[in-house]
Amino acid sequence: MSSVLITGANRGLGLEFTRQYLNDGWEVHAFCRQPDKAAELSAMVAESRGNIQLREMDIGNKEQIEAAAKELKGLPIDLLINNAGIADGYGRGVYEMKEDPDIQNYDFTFWEEMMRINTLAPAKIIGAFLENIRAGGQKKIASLSSGLGSITNLAWAGKYGYCASKAGLNMVSKGLAEWLRPENIMVISLSPGWTRTAMGGPHATNSAEESVSGMRHVISGLTLAETGRFWNFDGEELPW
Ligand SMILES: NC(=O)c1ccc[n+]([C@@H]2O[C@H](COP(=O)([O-])OP(=O)(O)OC[C@H]3O[C@@H](n4cnc5c(N)ncnc54)[C@H](OP(=O)(O)O)[C@@H]3O)[C@@H](O)[C@H]2O)c1
Repeated sequence: MSSVLITGANRGLGLEFTRQYLNDGWEVHAFCRQPDKAAELSAMVAESRGNIQLREMDIGNKEQIEAAAKELKGLPIDLLINNAGIADGYGRGVYEMKEDPDIQNYDFTFWEEMMRINTLAPAKIIGAFLENIRAGGQKKIASLSSGLGSITNLAWAGKYGYCASKAGLNMVSKGLAEWLRPENIMVISLSPGWTRTAMGGPHATNSAEESVSGMRHVISGLTLAETGRFWNFDGEELPW
């Protein structure tokens, strides 16, 4: 049975990844920061016949990452999905040039938090579970970036913190891919597209189902030829 570890599995894209991999017969290691409040995920666990292992992990908490890694020590894992992430409220609309993108008004405290959660935490998680991936059959690591993390494509002011945190995550993916290529471990960044979740809002273009099935398709087709690259949910390559 193939296995996947998913962060932020309680809602949005993480919950949809969990649902789809479970339905496909995978074993899912579903992590979230408040399992007792994850009603939908807990209902899935109850019906999963033991195929979802639900564990607590706040990805901003180093001790919790280490404790989770200790619990899973020695267990092969085929695929790691760094899904959990945060975005800022300020800047909403800036992207559409409707709001003041003035850097002087920026919430730098939250920018730091976005760097910690969107950039540093995924890197720490890859480090913490690398032995599990090394022992796994498929050897794949996918981190959820964003189209807004593409320096090449960015043509608007604003959302500086979020964009920078995802561009930083892209650099982590690229660097680790080069380092791990000799071991046949594949590392990519994925953009889910604009998707209807709490983060994407109700007017986004994609359903979570469409976005996640697209990303799963990209992941399943991964070979060493695709490692160290940035992929859109629809299979198109994105520029860094
Ligand atoms: N939706 C979009 O349009 C879109 C577009 C581009 C990229 N993305 C990326 O896709 C990923 C998933 O986004 P989404 O749309 O599903 O967002 P979402 O609906 O807001 O869900 C975010 C998930 O991340 C978790 N999370 C946040 N901080 C965490 C922490 N410190 N520890 C553990 N879990 C944490 C949340 O858990 P809690 O319930 O505990 O808060 C939640 O499960 C993110 O990385 C996001 O940046 C989304």
